[in-house]
Amino acid sequence: MADEQTGVSETEIAVHWHEEEYYSPPESFIQQANLKDPEIREKFRIENFPDYFAEYGELLQWDRKWDQVFDGSNPPFWRWFVGGRLNASVNCIDRHLASNRNKAAFYFVPENPDEMRQVITYQDLYVRVNEFAALLRDFAGVKKGDRVTIHMPMVAELPIAMLACARLGAIHSVVFGGFSGQACADRIIDSESHILITMDGYYRSGKWLNHKEKADVAVERAEQAGQHVDKVLIFERHPGRYSSDTPLTEGRDFIVNELLSQFRGARVEPESMKAEDPLFLMYTSGSTGKPKGVQHSTGGYLSYVTATSKNILDIHPEDVYWCMADIGWITGHSYIVYGPLSLGASSIIYEGVPSYPHANRPFEIAEELGVNIFHTSPTAIRGLRMAKDINPQKYNYHFKLMVTVGEPIEPDVWRWYYHVIGRDEAVIVDTWWQTETGGFLCSTVPALDKMKPGSAGPGVPGIHPVIFDDEGHEIQAGSGRGGNICIRNPWPGTLQTIWKDPERFVRTYYGKYCKNPDSKDWRDWPYMAGDGAMLASDGYFRILGRIDDVINVAGHRLGTKELESAVLRLDEVAEAAVIAAQDDLKGTVPELYVSLQPNVVPSDELSQRIVNAIVSEIGPIARPRKVWIVPDLPKTRSGKIMRRILASISNNKEIGDVTTLANPEVVDTIHQLVRS
Ligand code: WTA
Repeated sequence: MADEQTGVSETEIAVHWHEEEYYSPPESFIQQANLKDPEIREKFRIENFPDYFAEYGELLQWDRKWDQVFDGSNPPFWRWFVGGRLNASVNCIDRHLASNRNKAAFYFVPENPDEMRQVITYQDLYVRVNEFAALLRDFAGVKKGDRVTIHMPMVAELPIAMLACARLGAIHSVVFGGFSGQACADRIIDSESHILITMDGYYRSGKWLNHKEKADVAVERAEQAGQHVDKVLIFERHPGRYSSDTPLTEGRDFIVNELLSQFRGARVEPESMKAEDPLFLMYTSGSTGKPKGVQHSTGGYLSYVTATSKNILDIHPEDVYWCMADIGWITGHSYIVYGPLSLGASSIIYEGVPSYPHANRPFEIAEELGVNIFHTSPTAIRGLRMAKDINPQKYNYHFKLMVTVGEPIEPDVWRWYYHVIGRDEAVIVDTWWQTETGGFLCSTVPALDKMKPGSAGPGVPGIHPVIFDDEGHEIQAGSGRGGNICIRNPWPGTLQTIWKDPERFVRTYYGKYCKNPDSKDWRDWPYMAGDGAMLASDGYFRILGRIDDVINVAGHRLGTKELESAVLRLDEVAEAAVIAAQDDLKGTVPELYVSLQPNVVPSDELSQRIVNAIVSEIGPIARPRKVWIVPDLPKTRSGKIMRRILASISNNKEIGDVTTLANPEVVDTIHQLVRS
């Protein structure tokens, strides 16, 4: 999409294709792999859609089996496993008790190496989820269908809270712990939550962070917007010792660890949910200022993350799996909580930053706990690679499989991951997907497909990607041209809708390439992901990055409009434009161009307040690397801000023709300012 506003054009994404270079999985991996049927893609070819997905449903335990695998009668509101009934917490916990009661479901590893880690067996998880579900139901009044907002750090209580909601049939909405109180408020308001679950504080980079203060901001701002929060339920990071300076508000704030004594031994009958009842909302950034509540189903979603955890992550019951993502993002939902637990796996929840207190901490943990599947992001890999004193050779661990997710990985970084961290013995899967898609879309099947650095691979079995140009023509494999990657067919993990905004759902994902809005045939409704991509002649997709107003910072999605509107709240600011600047560590980071109201004098103090506005509205991950205060922003004659030009200046690229601008002279001024 060559949108003049977005900063990415088709010509820019038509990068040179490096010569093909393949790596093969070792024979020892192939021998033991879950999925090694060479006919799998034949079985899952598009002519067999949707029946092949029945196999995914079979991986779950149903209270009532489905009547119909797929109902496409009301596009694009697809329904999966229609007529089926199940409960997600039963699938993730209860069904493992008979044979695996004593097995670790989670290891919680505190950031401070001197603090004891916790092992949470499936039995422990069962007890704790039931007790907390009883508390939610009997103390907080949570019922089936209610939305519950959870704003927590990376601790075991977070999946416990999620699974307790799932047991009751309540819809959880987890807000990334690093987000601000305001960002939490926005999500409480949109989801109309009456309950907020939080924690007093947690550790990061060796520092104690007060988290409860964010709950106060969130609840107050939600109240101002007319959304009343009845109860704030606070877990203590150190049970028995409330450790925040922020006082408790009488009648509203309650310490979970105190209340739980009333629920010792409580068991909650799991709600038998329809397959298409929502399991959770996850807010994500799009091209408007307002994050959208991506709604995922119970049966379709759970079957999809279970199947992909089995086939692509190759999780076996005896494996120890560590995904370093945060549970507050979709990767954590799908591939720390729901997928691995549904398979009865043992996995790690690590509290803090992976480089604390030293760069080799990840390998130390891997050695200590016997991790053999390692899941992380290009940003984390680049960080490890740049660390001075990194020394994985010193540690005794063996990874059979490693994952990269969240951003494109440079072939160089890929090779370093393979040789140095993976010791030439681990298979790598580069998994491309999104909050909306529930689970993986493109990846190699680890035992069947060769790896190619920098390419995610073909569609995973059952997913049929295609690249369209702006006119909707298919771009052929090997043409060297970039375009919009779409998926031809629906799949069980796909989002059901955007919470309270079905029109935005249809418009965003199906508006551009729907062949006929009256059609009842799923073939006319390809899903548009919003990423640019190229397809090589070997059928592998290379993802180039977002084509919309979204920046990917260290694998985290930020809407440029969200950042801009935070800044525009300052009276001194006239206009603001956020662009994605290249960064060696994080892939891209935001840079901000701002023009001021007449008679306002630029100052360091003002620049600082601009940065603070973003951090307090959104969170530290959105902190701009640089604020450029400029006399005016480059605009088209119709008044659109030309972010593409600003991005070229920041990234030291060719600016191109500016003669059609309303104010071409300002480009030179900005250029000089930035280069000086
Ligand atoms: C990007 C995260 C290249 C992409 C799971 C997508 C990737 C956005 C990859 C979704 C990958 C994710 N290679 N780019 N392997 N995985 N992306 O919703 O731009 O937080 O649209 O989901 O991340 O980010 P989200």
